[in-house]
Amino acid sequence: MQIDSVWVNNIPVTFSIGESDEILGNPLIIPITTESTNVKIKYRTQPEAAALQWLDANQTEGQPFLFTQSQAILARTWVPCMDAPSIRFTYDAKIQCPPHLLPLMSASNPQIKNTNGSYYFEMRQPIPSYLLALCIGDLAFMSLGENTGVYAQPATISKAYEEFQDLNKMIYAAEKRYGPYKWGRYDIVVLPASFPFGGMENPRLTFATPTIITGDKSLVSLIAHELAHSWSGNLVTNETWNDFWLNEGFTVYFEDRIMEDLYGRKYADMLAKIGLEELQETVREFMQTKPNDTKLYLDLKGRNPDDGVSDIAYEKGRFFLLSLEKLVGREKFDAFLLEYFNTFAFKTINTNRFIEYLHENLLQTAELAVKARVNEWIFETGLPDNCPQIESEYLHSVEQTILNCVNGKPISSIDNNSWTTHHYLHFLRNIPANYFKSNWKQLDEKFNFMQTTNSEIACDWLKRCIEADVFEAKQQLLYFLTHVGRRKFLSPLYKAMIAKPEWVVFAKEVFENAKSGYHAVAYETIESFFEN
Ligand code: BES
Ligand code: ZN
Repeated sequence: MQIDSVWVNNIPVTFSIGESDEILGNPLIIPITTESTNVKIKYRTQPEAAALQWLDANQTEGQPFLFTQSQAILARTWVPCMDAPSIRFTYDAKIQCPPHLLPLMSASNPQIKNTNGSYYFEMRQPIPSYLLALCIGDLAFMSLGENTGVYAQPATISKAYEEFQDLNKMIYAAEKRYGPYKWGRYDIVVLPASFPFGGMENPRLTFATPTIITGDKSLVSLIAHELAHSWSGNLVTNETWNDFWLNEGFTVYFEDRIMEDLYGRKYADMLAKIGLEELQETVREFMQTKPNDTKLYLDLKGRNPDDGVSDIAYEKGRFFLLSLEKLVGREKFDAFLLEYFNTFAFKTINTNRFIEYLHENLLQTAELAVKARVNEWIFETGLPDNCPQIESEYLHSVEQTILNCVNGKPISSIDNNSWTTHHYLHFLRNIPANYFKSNWKQLDEKFNFMQTTNSEIACDWLKRCIEADVFEAKQQLLYFLTHVGRRKFLSPLYKAMIAKPEWVVFAKEVFENAKSGYHAVAYETIESFFEN
């Protein structure tokens, strides 16, 4: 970022740039006194600013696109600001863009393009910097309810509109549980496929990957998740990135409750079971390599807060809260959470303050305090053995199918009529390696995995193909890795390839091909795999 000039109380001042930190960047030092009431900075962002991804027309549905991703510490790359989650501000902005494009922010938003390309935005509620967001593209809007709707590029908008039909019901379910939605409108914008995350809870305007649009609404839990952040995260914000689990763990718990309200406990149990299995896998892996990262409360000193983004914050966080729910009962736990969101609305919270609040408001008796094993969950490695277990009827039926197959039942006779995304994921994750190796062709014939347009399924399928040396999948892999930029898909696939001498050269080739289309967040993660 280039800083041109700085004024304090409208008087030009001499500023300086402090010593550079590899992770945090360069501090901008401005002389202020107790009399200073306003600071003005004239600056220019550089094209390489890590938060920004500039896409050419050929990387989108036909028009150039720009989007930002500020979380965790990238807001500083496009706006000079006090870039820590404990500091909140309101903002307004003027955006001038080409008139055939529409800009949107985490703020009040237009719904149609105007002729001069000039727009004004306001966010009146105080937000932390990581929720600053902007996107500009050929975007159309469709309403999904009185205070909610979806934006997307022309080729995607009607699919998105269909996929998110239940959005209004989700908002209703969330408000019924944990109090009124405090941000005015709730809209979603579907970004190009290079968006490095599944979703980002930018206030008033969730940013979402197009890979959740499957045609059967089977991945809308991601929307429930981003919506839930309107309470956990955006209203009540983690004070530091070490407290990240307070944002994400609460949000996964809340997401589960929304999913249960809309689609029933059996459906929610299926999602929870998948989450638990991912958690167990992550714990197993981290206990070998970095056991301290299995703690809910992290110590990220000297590290990039991005390192704290793992299933631990999300799923261990969720299962800790679920264990509390089971301990005190749902009714009490809901009342506690409602009060928690009210008490800390528009404030920040850290882990110790939460523990204090928990003991004052939920675990008042010595007996409960002992049974909850709070310190073990938060400050110790691994998974406490009071971690709730989940049984999923839907997934049991998949397990039975696998058993039948392994015992010789022909793949062609599998009844997959009622299967949705998660059945396939469970299937792909649990078929034995030797069975996969000798039957991948029949599996593909039955399920058309090589042609799937469902990215979740494609990712798991391709991972199995790499592990089983199915070189026939190379073309699909190349296509997938050059068209999708979501880090959650890229990471396991590149990791699996790099781990195998048979694939590592191909991995390098693909990365060279694809990297210019990745957002910095994804690019840097994948690049680091090659360096280690
Ligand atoms: N806030 C996160 C995304 C994030 C976390 C970005 C940390 C940068 C640093 C968002 O709410 C999220 O969790 N997204 C998930 C989806 C969710 C359903 C688990 C994702 O992108 O996969
Ligand atoms: Zn989240």
